[in-house]
Amino acid sequence: MSRKRVAVLISGRGSNMAALIETAKDKNYPAEIALVASNRPDAPGLAAARAAGIATAIVDHASYGKDRPAFERALQTVLEQHRIDLICLAGFMRLLTAGFVTQWQDRLLNIHPALLPAFKGLDTHKRALAAGAKMHGATVHFVVPEMDSGPIIAQGAVAVRDNDDECTLAVRVLAVEHRIYPLALKLVAEGRVRVVDGHCLIDGVPVPASASIVPDEPG
Ligand code: GRF
Repeated sequence: MSRKRVAVLISGRGSNMAALIETAKDKNYPAEIALVASNRPDAPGLAAARAAGIATAIVDHASYGKDRPAFERALQTVLEQHRIDLICLAGFMRLLTAGFVTQWQDRLLNIHPALLPAFKGLDTHKRALAAGAKMHGATVHFVVPEMDSGPIIAQGAVAVRDNDDECTLAVRVLAVEHRIYPLALKLVAEGRVRVVDGHCLIDGVPVPASASIVPDEPG
C-alpha cells in the first residue's frame, strides 16, 4: 500500500512536526511528510523542515485580513498541489472554518496539550496546575468544527508532581506528545481508525484505556 501523503501545519517552533518527520523517515512507516505549511512566515519550524529536506509553504493569514475562507482556499490550493491525503495540525494557531474542517473530515488531526475533554483551549498547563489536577497529558484527535472536541485517537498521561510549575509540566507533556502523534498518525494512515457515533474505533473496537501512554516516571 502506498504511503499517505501528510501535510503538517505549524505556526511556531514545530517540535511535534520534527517528531513526525523523524518517525516518517522510516520507509515502513505508513505516512510520509510531503509538506510543512505555516500561516506565519517567521515560524521557526520552517527552517527545521527545510533542513530535513521537506517541501515547505507559507500561507500568511495576514494577507487575507479577516477573510478566513480566502485564507483557507489558498491553503487548499497548496494542499492539492502537493496531493495531500492527511493533515496534522501541530501548534497551528488558526481556527479553521466549519467548511474547511468538514471538507477534511476524518483526515484532519490535531494535538492538544491536555487530556481532553478537560482543559480545552489555551494555557492548559497553567489551568491544570491551578485546578490541582493529579494527572495531565495530551490528546490526538480528529478535528471537528467545535474546538478541541473531536473523536479521540490517542492520549498520553503524565502524573503532576507537587513541585511542578508550568514549564516543568510542559516539558514532560511535550515528551508524551512526541510519542502519541506518530502513533496516532500511523493508525490513521494504515486505515485502522473509524469514527462511529463520534468515537474512534481502532480495528473495529473501542480503544482500551490501557492503550494510553503513561510513561514510567523515576522519582
Ligand atoms: C504543543 O504543545 C501542541 O500540543 C499544541 O501546541 C504546541 C506546539 O508545539 N497544539 P510544537 O510547535 O509542536 O513544538
